[in-house]
Amino acid sequence: MENNHSKKHRVWYLSDGNPTQEERIKEYDNFCSTYEKVLGEEGWQSPYVCAETIGSYITGNRDKVEILDLGVGTGLVGKRLHELGFRTFDGIDPSQGMLTLAKQKRIYRNLYCQLFTSEPTNIKEGSYDAICISGAFGKGDIPEDSVYEMIRLGKSGCLICFVGRTVAFELLLPLLETLEKNKQLKKEEITETQKYRKNVPALIIVYRIIKD
Ligand SMILES: C[S@@+](CC[C@H](N)C(=O)[O-])C[C@H]1O[C@@H](n2cnc3c(N)ncnc32)[C@H](O)[C@@H]1O
Repeated sequence: MENNHSKKHRVWYLSDGNPTQEERIKEYDNFCSTYEKVLGEEGWQSPYVCAETIGSYITGNRDKVEILDLGVGTGLVGKRLHELGFRTFDGIDPSQGMLTLAKQKRIYRNLYCQLFTSEPTNIKEGSYDAICISGAFGKGDIPEDSVYEMIRLGKSGCLICFVGRTVAFELLLPLLETLEKNKQLKKEEITETQKYRKNVPALIIVYRIIKD
């Protein structure tokens, strides 16, 4: 049984401990079976906030919307999206343990076991209406330059919704501004939220992909 100290240490290690990519994937694999319980005790609201933000922008025809969930973990974003009436989600995550639990929710169309980076995936260009990234961006997780691959995968008008710790977005925000100047993205909102994890300052960032 994991005690409180080791649970907190695990959350710290993944957030701020700077493990290598391999160590990080291994740690998520070890963590997956207790992830929802441990994060629940830490007041984990990020996946719900991410799904509800998407829901606030897409109010009609939710069953027709195609969504990509990056850093899908155990599938908590999809679970909430499904409750909100969305039906078609794909997920990407390098941790097979996490993906196995996401698969058990029986709501994801495709689950891909891979790192999401700036490298092109095998997914067809212009596939999605929305892309969600909850608690999986920056600081060793999904890297900033992967935004170019997100833009390739989105349809014109696709929403990209990031929910994460404010510190995770230091390098992302100036890149998003540049992409807005280049008319590849349009800012919808950058909102501070207390609803991420207990006592952790966080942001909701929503941009829309522009393609002509
Ligand atoms: C804190 S969990 C968040 C899971 C889920 N989105 C949620 O809100 O509960 C972070 C997840 O991101 C995944 N991850 C880390 N780096 C990644 C990358 N480059 N591409 C895709 N997923 C990544 C991890 O394996 C882990 O499952």
